[in-house]
Amino acid sequence: MRRLTKKKTLTLVKELDAFPKVPESYVESTASGGTVSLIAFTFMAILAFLEFFVYRNTWMKYEYEVDKDFSSKLRLNVDITVAMRCQYIGADVLDLAETMVASDGLKYEPVNFELLPEQRLWHLTLLHMQERLKVEHSLQDVLFKSAMKEVPPSQSRSEDTPNSLTACRIHGHLFVNKVAGNFHITVGKSIPHPRGHAHLAALVSHDSFNFSHRIDHLSFGEAIPGLINPLDGTEKVTTEPNHMFQYFITIVPTKLNTYKVSAETHQYSVTERERVINHASGSHGVSGIFMKYDISSLMVKVTEQHMPLWQFLVRLCGIVGGIFSTTGSDIPLHSHLGQLFWGNPKAFPGQT
Ligand SMILES: *[C@@H]1O[C@H](CO)[C@@H](O)[C@H](O)[C@H]1NC(C)=O
Repeated sequence: MRRLTKKKTLTLVKELDAFPKVPESYVESTASGGTVSLIAFTFMAILAFLEFFVYRNTWMKYEYEVDKDFSSKLRLNVDITVAMRCQYIGADVLDLAETMVASDGLKYEPVNFELLPEQRLWHLTLLHMQERLKVEHSLQDVLFKSAMKEVPPSQSRSEDTPNSLTACRIHGHLFVNKVAGNFHITVGKSIPHPRGHAHLAALVSHDSFNFSHRIDHLSFGEAIPGLINPLDGTEKVTTEPNHMFQYFITIVPTKLNTYKVSAETHQYSVTERERVINHASGSHGVSGIFMKYDISSLMVKVTEQHMPLWQFLVRLCGIVGGIFSTTGSDIPLHSHLGQLFWGNPKAFPGQT
């Protein structure tokens, strides 16, 4: 009685088998079947290979969040050359929190306004890159990934006597509060004043003003490789002595996380305005270079990502399974390949 139930269960299980069985004749190895298998196998290998490249590829993910860090100081990095002698001009920062920010971090260096040939070449490359960046935003992703370092040729312009150097390179960094402010370069050294500050400019004649300038570098925060700042390379030449250049800068805190670098820095966007100061024709103002900056309260997080391994494996399985099912699911691949490669024992006399 017990034996019978056992047998019954066995047949029941056998009948439950939902997978159709292939008749023996189909499983026979044939050369044409082998060719199909070989093609399928090659195809699979190609797809798997391509899939691997997709897996290796990375992309940038942009996220936005509110910047909650208001206490820290912001580093302002500058490198500007103005076509005026150093003793005539002064640079400083006014911000909303303090009336004046100490600008001791800046160095004044007499230089020539004209660049040496190799410096000019670098400058043109930079301008070209800026041009491309405006058209093609995805270029920034590539730059982020490559972590390209800006290595401008040395800034020493010539060994002329200081007297013949009529331009001034102002470079260095300042720490400013994380509030809106105004960095400017005007005539005269600034002196602190109870209600703001004044530029002492009595000794310079208006006709000798020349606010033609070149911004080699202007950035906020930590300098990170691969980030080209929008103002880098800007060159403005004017033939009017009284000229006002204004840059309105919006700073966006940026957290960069790529496989090469991870840094907290700031990007910015800028709009420019310039005009000739002519009090007679109603265009009032102070000649100089003014950079008004404001800080965005939104922070951008840029993260480099790639496909997780499990996803890659799932896709790989999809390829293998998909090709098997389209070329005929019951082909036992190894036997066909075996037929093709080792079917003729005479080809390998030593092996049989
Ligand atoms: C200022 O200097 C630049 C470069 O040396 C020159 O091209 C320009 O004509 C000068 N402008 C004035 C107003 O002197």
